Amino acid sequence: MKKICVLGLGYIGLPTASLVATKGYSVLGVDVQKSTVDTINQGQIHIHEPDLDILVKSAVQSGHLKASLTPDEADIFIVAVPTPFFEEGFKPDLTYVESAVRSIAPVLKSGDLLILESTSPVGTTEKMRDWVKEERSDLNLDEIYFAHCPERVLPGQILKELILNDRIIGGINTASSLKAQEFYASFVNGSIHLTDARTAELAKLTENAFRDVNIAFANELSYICEKLDVDVWQLIALASKHPRVKILNPGPGVGGHCIAVDPWFIVDSAPEESRLIRAAREINDSRPKHIAAKIIAAAKKEKQSSVACLGLAFKANVDDLRSSPAVEIVQILAASGLTILAVEPHIKSLPKALAKYGNIKLMDLPSALQGSSIISLLVDHSQFRAVDRSLLAKKQIFDTRGIWQ
Ligand SMILES: NC(=O)c1ccc[n+]([C@@H]2O[C@H](COP(=O)([O-])OP(=O)(O)OC[C@H]3O[C@@H](n4cnc5c(N)ncnc54)[C@H](O)[C@@H]3O)[C@@H](O)[C@H]2O)c1
Repeated sequence: MKKICVLGLGYIGLPTASLVATKGYSVLGVDVQKSTVDTINQGQIHIHEPDLDILVKSAVQSGHLKASLTPDEADIFIVAVPTPFFEEGFKPDLTYVESAVRSIAPVLKSGDLLILESTSPVGTTEKMRDWVKEERSDLNLDEIYFAHCPERVLPGQILKELILNDRIIGGINTASSLKAQEFYASFVNGSIHLTDARTAELAKLTENAFRDVNIAFANELSYICEKLDVDVWQLIALASKHPRVKILNPGPGVGGHCIAVDPWFIVDSAPEESRLIRAAREINDSRPKHIAAKIIAAAKKEKQSSVACLGLAFKANVDDLRSSPAVEIVQILAASGLTILAVEPHIKSLPKALAKYGNIKLMDLPSALQGSSIISLLVDHSQFRAVDRSLLAKKQIFDTRGIWQ
């Protein structure tokens, strides 16, 4: 049985490790967090993703999935660790990838395949080979294979999309691409497209930059409409009646650790050439402050000391609050002295970053709607779409997602 070692047991690594463990591989999952390793070894999970608990439990019980703090010998290594950017200068932070690669170097042997799944700047797969070379001068690098295989799964549908999505595979040479193709073909039903590592890296970044630029266009329209006193939702609906025009919706900003991050990797490596991509990032990043300022002004005008804020997650129907524009808006409102009646159906308690303010209260939807005359809809969770419209009557509404239009 082929051995797989997956580095990083988060939203990408854990579903991948447990899926592969049910497809006839022996999988060792490695993470630097002891609590994560312990949880998985008990057949449980530490993140929220539909059906993942069942998959992990059965993979662990079958003995095909184990978790550890340290890597071990394997035939295929999959790196799925974070790739954030340094706040200063928006430079890519490759320290997690580098330390994961250096941690597996001691157990590498001739014939092994290293796959980078983390979203990475162009040239990172080649850097992996350089780091291995530094650690293991005894190895013949022509007999070690390196490929980038970016992930494009949607949180909430990861297990389905891991199997159904098309995959791009880019090796540092043809032999590497073919080795990686053989592995993915054993559990992916979507088409597999082979290319070189640099194109695969830029393809993933391009997908997210495309989304970011299109969202920025909608957000820019929202600014223009505010100035010209035009309803942006009606404008977009009408303009999109053109057979070749499909405009996205404006919103409170772009969050999460993909669309709001990855375009910076392009800007960093080609700053002069990526003016539109940079402008889109700046427009989308400006949204939370702009929306918070409007809410604060309304509260002052109405002499209101509290505001209901519906949604904290970075997007609809997930529990992930990381890099969420809704969280940024709530923080600005709380810092201005307003009491925040926060509703987030996917969490049980406030994260530290919000609890520390002392004037943010997590509550259920009816209580929040009753508690303030100012309602800001920050995330388009299904529960909020279904809200009884009579509860919104006579309230001042900031519907940043346009779901109550
Ligand atoms: N989450 C998504 O929807 C998504 C989609 C596409 C691509 N990606 C990309 O996949 C990569 C992983 O994202 P994620 O959401 O799974 O991150 P995550 O934060 O959920 O998980 C990463 C895990 O890696 C662990 N880790 C850090 N350093 C390590 C090391 N040296 N060795 C072993 N483990 C280590 C962390 O403890 C954490 O558990 C990122 O590059 C991300 O951009 C994510």
